[in-house]
Amino acid sequence: MRDNYGRIISYMRISVTDRCNLRCRYCMPESGIKKLEHSRILSFEDIIAIAEAASDLGINKIRLTGGEPLIRRNITGLVSQLAGLPGIDEVTLTTNGTLFAGMAKDLHLGGLKRVNFSLDSLSAQKYEYITRGGRLEDAWQGILAAMEVGMHPVKINTVIIKGFNDDEILDFADLAYRYPLQIRFIEFMPVGDLLFWDDSKVISIKEVKSVLSEHYNLVPTAQIGNGPAECFRLEGGQGGIGFISPLSNHFCSKCNRIRLTAEGKLRNCLYDYHETDLKAALVKGISREELCQLLAQAISRKPERHHMQAGWGKANNRKMYQIGG
Ligand code: 5AD
Ligand code: SF4
Repeated sequence: MRDNYGRIISYMRISVTDRCNLRCRYCMPESGIKKLEHSRILSFEDIIAIAEAASDLGINKIRLTGGEPLIRRNITGLVSQLAGLPGIDEVTLTTNGTLFAGMAKDLHLGGLKRVNFSLDSLSAQKYEYITRGGRLEDAWQGILAAMEVGMHPVKINTVIIKGFNDDEILDFADLAYRYPLQIRFIEFMPVGDLLFWDDSKVISIKEVKSVLSEHYNLVPTAQIGNGPAECFRLEGGQGGIGFISPLSNHFCSKCNRIRLTAEGKLRNCLYDYHETDLKAALVKGISREELCQLLAQAISRKPERHHMQAGWGKANNRKMYQIGG
């Protein structure tokens, strides 16, 4: 469907759990999070019911997120159920990758089309630091497995943080040169665990580009998928580079997505704290048609753009692991 600003909404991100096996410093508090009661999390039946209603409205692409989606029990089963829905053309996943290698084949057979990995460092020590204990090798094995089963293009999300990994920009580019990987550099946004975020840790995409262009010829390419990244090929290389600049150059006018939290609250925008409680409606036994109406109403309230520059705000009490990035 079209929202009130003429944008076609065709993409839903579904957080299947707010839990994670890592504790990235910008995302989660060290102590972890209070476990949500099982009954408050969307069941697979809930997720399928919402996906069906959303497909009636023209949603044809679904991305599963978390927390870490692969720790949800029988995630492979959910992927294949979603992939089998008539209106759904594409089911994808965003993961930290540490559990992916062992599941790659089954996920692929289940109909998972593509996967995005979150990877902020190529140094084992720094990876362990930023994730508070994760093993780089596990994530890398996941990435290799995705390439092996042929989930092209395999994408890597790298949040660029000054003083942490800004010295690795060229190393990441080299990875995209040697492997058919799309490395997407993301500006560090003031969301999530704000104790770690700080103005001085932000590097604009413009700066990242200027570091890269000293060593590589970046050739603009058509956008891969309909996401917010500006895409380039590395001349002579196998893969490519994408830039996601939510802060310096917001892409809201092209936004095609809605988000569902693990508790079943629909969010129109990462930054908009208004939510529509779909789980509550499902508990009441809402019909597919009514659910469809509720979704349409919610989407019609999608804001024109985010106001991230103004800060996360007190009213916005959700964290990234709850919204799913
Ligand atoms: N700024 C930028 N990107 C973030 N992500 C999580 N928190 C932030 C933040 N504060 C990214 C993760 C993941 C994606 C879903 O969002 O690294 O790749
Ligand atoms: Fe887990 Fe992703 Fe948050 Fe890291 S950023 S703690 S991998 S949900």
